[in-house]
Amino acid sequence: MSDSYFYSKAARYWANIPPTVDGVLGGYGHISDIDVEGSRSFLDEILAFENPPATKIALDCGAGIGRVSKHVLIPRFNKVDIVEQDEKFINNVKIYVGDDNQKIGTLYQTALQNFKPDKHYDLIWCQWVIGHLKDYDLIDFLNRCRMALNPNGVIVVKDNIAQSRELEYDEDDSSVTRPLKLLEILFEQANLTTVKTTVQKGFPPDIYPVHSFALVPVEK
Ligand SMILES: C[S@@+](CC[C@H](N)C(=O)[O-])C[C@H]1O[C@@H](n2cnc3c(N)ncnc32)[C@H](O)[C@@H]1O
Repeated sequence: MSDSYFYSKAARYWANIPPTVDGVLGGYGHISDIDVEGSRSFLDEILAFENPPATKIALDCGAGIGRVSKHVLIPRFNKVDIVEQDEKFINNVKIYVGDDNQKIGTLYQTALQNFKPDKHYDLIWCQWVIGHLKDYDLIDFLNRCRMALNPNGVIVVKDNIAQSRELEYDEDDSSVTRPLKLLEILFEQANLTTVKTTVQKGFPPDIYPVHSFALVPVEK
């Protein structure tokens, strides 16, 4: 399958999904609260590191309608920028975030494989989106994120993990689910090291296990 087909099929899929929590979670809106609870404690553990990131500015990547921004990032950071390629989702971010929407900074409507950060961030959060990037685009994207981190900055990846040894392709939304080993290799190729990881508890048994990774630049 060509790259352009892989990417355009995903964009078409999301273009037909309503701008709701249930929409961005593929019909699993009911797991949002438990997901948010797990993400908040993961973030609070990062903010309690010996040398923690600052809490001035975060970036939410593949943000959808801003579900993670609203419930996880905005309560902890002064400003949250958004990257999201779908026009309808990005147009709904401020509405969905509601009262705190003055904390939303720049909205970048672009695909992550093309996104080049033009400022530095204390924290970059990527949830349920890296499966939409080809391996080499993911490495390049993570490299650009690594270079856009402030001192003590952290990248968080929270995503589904395949239990087989192979990459699994989802025909519906044109995404892949990677086994842990492959993901670890890709992080390493982006010169990132995992300083904290956890598996989300309390999700229904019929979905993939969801792992969170706190990644920091490899020290040279
Ligand atoms: C499963 S939703 C997750 C949304 C959000 N991270 C959350 O957890 O609520 C995946 C999101 O990634 C976006 N997306 C898909 N491919 C993308 C790409 N190549 N670049 C940027 N965003 C993309 C979709 O438009 C959608 O908003």
